[in-house]
Amino acid sequence: MSFDLSVFSNKNIILAVTGGIAAYKSAILVRRLKDYGFNVRVVMTHGAQAFITPLTFQALSGNPVHTELLDPEAEAGMGHIELARWADLVLVAPASCDTIAKFAAGLADDLLSTLYLATKAPVWVAPAMNQQMWAAKPTQRNLNTLVEDGVHVIMPEAGSQACGDVGLGRMPEPEDLAEQVKNYFHQAQRAIAEKFGLLAGKRVVITAGPTREAIDPVRYISNHSTGKMGFAIAAACYSAGAKVTLLAGPVSLDTPNGVRRINVSSAIKMLDESMHQLEEGCDVFIATAAVADYRVAEVAEHKIKKAGDELNVSLVKNPDIVATIAQQSKRPFMVGFAAETRNVEEYAAGKLIAKKLDMIACNDVSRADIGFASDQNAMTVFFAEQYQMEKRDLEKASKQEIAQQLVEAIHDALNHKIEPV
Ligand code: C5P
Repeated sequence: MSFDLSVFSNKNIILAVTGGIAAYKSAILVRRLKDYGFNVRVVMTHGAQAFITPLTFQALSGNPVHTELLDPEAEAGMGHIELARWADLVLVAPASCDTIAKFAAGLADDLLSTLYLATKAPVWVAPAMNQQMWAAKPTQRNLNTLVEDGVHVIMPEAGSQACGDVGLGRMPEPEDLAEQVKNYFHQAQRAIAEKFGLLAGKRVVITAGPTREAIDPVRYISNHSTGKMGFAIAAACYSAGAKVTLLAGPVSLDTPNGVRRINVSSAIKMLDESMHQLEEGCDVFIATAAVADYRVAEVAEHKIKKAGDELNVSLVKNPDIVATIAQQSKRPFMVGFAAETRNVEEYAAGKLIAKKLDMIACNDVSRADIGFASDQNAMTVFFAEQYQMEKRDLEKASKQEIAQQLVEAIHDALNHKIEPV
């Protein structure tokens, strides 16, 4: 089982907007929730419609807005019970004093209060009101009741208020609220992945991107690797419940959610950090980095000056990181990559043996449509002989999909190992 923690397209949020000037912020909140991929349906009280129109929310959410409890037309579409079942989270923002009081009292005289009673989904309220109304004893009493009833109350912020007062009662910014929602689902999914994911409990170290081998303080030798495949694998491993450390060469990619990233530059630094990670504990080592085969024998201390028609730079071989790790006594499950332009399978199978790997994924970089800078890839995966597993062809797909299939291949191999007798 694996979970894509970056996309929430299967999660449904009901954003309930009640009467308060902060309702204008809820329009932006819909946008931010949609940006994260959530499905959003908006419920509005009559009070809310005095501040902002349903049409605004309909346009932003891409769904009809729900306003009435006793509307035959609305009930024929998605009535309050369906809405209550549809929701994975009900977020009331802004939550007025009146709505909070209704929730506390258990009234069911409009769509939102009825929905509140009818849903099994978690309910969050973000109160927004005048500071004196916030501090009023009945409001605090009602909020305590809501907390006792299991509602999550998002504390209002202090500051200047639309009414001219200064104090507690401002609704947090929409970006903050949307992030809290995202983090909630992220943590919930992570908890499931850590228990049931394909790589639950495994520590995975991944090398990614190119290495950079200095010639002098301003120049270097490198290659065109973008790191995309390694980063996609890091994200997939994390979604599968693993603890992931990504040893990244110089690339301009965002760190995947939940992944620990350590930036390295040269092959020597990448090897040092790999050895260090091995000492810290590693179950699976995935080498996607395009490590420079050679480095400059003697890096010039100062910038090399232009002189003569030729310049000779002497190179020495870099250590093979994946092969070095595979030779260690407490070696993890070793996954290598091979990018070839011909005899792809033959060379890859040779590398599997020569580098003492458990698994190798190879691709044909002579194909213009896949590989290095492309967002797509296609691979063939080979397993070491002792696994007695058939090779797997991973058809052309996005690097994310290929990464997911690689996680499955690693999981299958880890569970298929034939121990020598
Ligand atoms: O020998 P070749 O470079 O084709 O091998 C590719 C595989 O070996 C990749 O998994 C790559 O990350 C790894 N490698 C390495 N250290 C090197 C060279 C390659 O870990 N110096």
